Amino acid sequence: MARLKVGVLISGRGSNLQALLDAAADPAFPAEIVLVVSNVPNVAGLGRAKKAGVATATVNHRDYKSRVDFDNAVTKTLERSDVEFVCLAGFMRLVTQEFVEHWHNRMINIHPALLPLFPGLDTHQRALDEGCKLHGCTVHFVRHEMDSGPIIGQAAVPVLPEDTENSLASRVLTAEHKLYPECLKLIAEKNITITGNSLTFKQASQTTEEIICNP
Ligand code: GAR
Repeated sequence: MARLKVGVLISGRGSNLQALLDAAADPAFPAEIVLVVSNVPNVAGLGRAKKAGVATATVNHRDYKSRVDFDNAVTKTLERSDVEFVCLAGFMRLVTQEFVEHWHNRMINIHPALLPLFPGLDTHQRALDEGCKLHGCTVHFVRHEMDSGPIIGQAAVPVLPEDTENSLASRVLTAEHKLYPECLKLIAEKNITITGNSLTFKQASQTTEEIICNP
């Protein structure tokens, strides 16, 4: 079966991109990364893509006079490479309603919190401030409201008494790297049916359950 052609949008370090590149390096993985687009020039993630032999593009948001113009340029760039599906991986731009609609049910995001808790920024410090005993990450389809949309998978990690923002972020990041490729795999192998905002998993994946319960 043809592999799903994926474009990854990044703004920086690209460690989640790396996890996707590593998974897709296996020819048996049902998705391939065909393009990596950054809105910030010269970020580390672009280097990771080049090293993996994947095409890259920079669409600098500062070069566009509106969000709509920027988002249209990103869509054009993705479509020139025949991208069918978009993964946001540390893409730190709010996207427009038009962009969300264009890629409806064809775009997912990873967020460093157990949504619907802590949408937005500073998720690890906020989890510490609230005294959470569990924290984690979520992969979800993108809807217009920031960090919202049908949840594909979550990974939970413990919050330890001695945790700092950095130590907690690093524990969550390790879980992100496992969760994101697993969720993309579920989609690419057509294991998920979407009806409105509700998801049905055709075959409960053992791996997903392991991730959710035991990251
Ligand atoms: C990740 O922790 C990702 O979940 C987060 O940014 C980091 C990017 O790291 N994304 C968001 O906060 C989006 N709301 P990476 O560039 O090393 O993958």
